[in-house]
Amino acid sequence: MNRTFYVSTPIYYVNDVPHIGHAYTTLAADVLARYKRLKGFDVFFLTGSDEHGQKVEKAALASGETPLELADRVVKRFQALWEKLDISYSDFIRTTQERHKEGVSHIFSQILEKGDIFLGEYEDWYCTPCETFWTETQLIDNKCPDCNRPVEKLKEESYFFRMSKYQEQLLAHIEANPDFIQPKSKRNEIISFIKEGLRDLSVSRTSFNWGIPVPGNERHVIYVWFDALTNYITALGYPDEQGNFGTYWPVDVHLIGKDILRFHSVYWPTFLMAAGLPLPKKVFAHGWWTVEGQKMSKSLQNVVEPNSLVDRYGVDAIRYFLLREVPFGLDGDFSHSALVHRINSDLANDLGNLLNRSTAMIVKYFDGVLPTPGPLQEIDLAFRAKAETMVAQVDGHLEDLAFSKALQSIWEVISAGNKYIDETAPWTLAKDPALQERLATVMYCLAEVQRLVYFLLTPFMARTARKALCYLGWEGEPDEAGLVWGKLAAGTKIAKAEPLFPRIEEKDA
Ligand code: ME8
Ligand code: MG
Repeated sequence: MNRTFYVSTPIYYVNDVPHIGHAYTTLAADVLARYKRLKGFDVFFLTGSDEHGQKVEKAALASGETPLELADRVVKRFQALWEKLDISYSDFIRTTQERHKEGVSHIFSQILEKGDIFLGEYEDWYCTPCETFWTETQLIDNKCPDCNRPVEKLKEESYFFRMSKYQEQLLAHIEANPDFIQPKSKRNEIISFIKEGLRDLSVSRTSFNWGIPVPGNERHVIYVWFDALTNYITALGYPDEQGNFGTYWPVDVHLIGKDILRFHSVYWPTFLMAAGLPLPKKVFAHGWWTVEGQKMSKSLQNVVEPNSLVDRYGVDAIRYFLLREVPFGLDGDFSHSALVHRINSDLANDLGNLLNRSTAMIVKYFDGVLPTPGPLQEIDLAFRAKAETMVAQVDGHLEDLAFSKALQSIWEVISAGNKYIDETAPWTLAKDPALQERLATVMYCLAEVQRLVYFLLTPFMARTARKALCYLGWEGEPDEAGLVWGKLAAGTKIAKAEPLFPRIEEKDA
């Protein structure tokens, strides 16, 4: 079996600074990458920045910089945020890098030579002040839908990609591969869109300069989406078939927001078909975050800035909240009260208390040395079985990108752990020397179940997991071999855990 795993995030535009929407996609990718590494896969995790196009050119003009100066400045903010959020990417691609420009020129030339890109004329309604082409149906009262000013019919020379030619092939691929586009509701939307008929796509512009020139015709720059999508292979060294491209392509999953699904599930696959390259195995579009019930926007000044969230609540609390609060694939709302509630109830209470209580008892009753368990009784076996079920469930849920369900499975065991303490009442067992072995068994089960819990939490909250495993006396890195019962050895030194997450007073939120 080929144990490689390649996961990507979108490459983010540098005309905007990072917010929780960007952080969300990147976090999800990071959890997958970390989980697959834990399972022994050879992982390639790609993120990067989208630096060409008219938007970036305009933003640079507005801030009195060259586009590259702007990109150099903003890209640092993304990279600093990824560091702060413990994002374990393997590579960061910038579309202004030479390796990317070469790859884009190469694939464009290939498709051009084949005849699937051709020079034609673009004719549509043009709004001069907005510098935007509109189709007839987009116009409102025959005027520009953005600024309501008159538009004129304009012709522009443009290269076109023969997307129409690939309509049937793409539909057949989607039909034959039910998991190619996820979630299902989104898949259906894309199928309907394709069935309405694919038009050939304009893939060059002459109206601005900030882009990769069309090979052999420098009056044109390559359309920003053709440029951007290709990052997923240029970062692997394409067109060099050796090395990373040969090892990791096709990608296992492109993680994206629902806003850019059409580009990833229609444009990109047809470009690849034209270039004779394998298609992505999966494209997964997650939902949209609103903030306190409202769309996040600069004009509403409600953009949630991840840096300050991390400063206030800690990186692991933010990682947990974003992936726990909303099922991946659905829209969700970010609110401070929901965040504080999750931190207090799930993290400080359920998770933190269980570790606290358990380690305190092992220190108190066994001098911090994990005792050898006696025979497991029914209640212990049920507790152990729950932990073993959790291992399988988390695996299945992460395979489906159901992050929230994976965390739910883990929290079921955490609740079971707190209940197990109440039911076994170790403080009563401790009073009777004849029940010493029984007490030892209970302590062992508590420690071992939590070792498994923190193994599975490692991809989500690496820092917290490392800390907790340290209290539990586990020294190595969590790995697949350790995802079974009984690996924590009797005799291990256990330390009393400090609270993992301080409670947050509602008024401090
Ligand atoms: O589209 N909720 O870049 P971009 C959830 N450069 N996710 C959100 C979000 C929100 N409110 N806002 C943004 C581009 N995102 C192109 C991509 S890929 C070849 C080129 C996330 O900076 C989500 O992943 O506008 C979305 O797809 C991405 O940011 C768009 O980032
Ligand atoms: Mg966008």
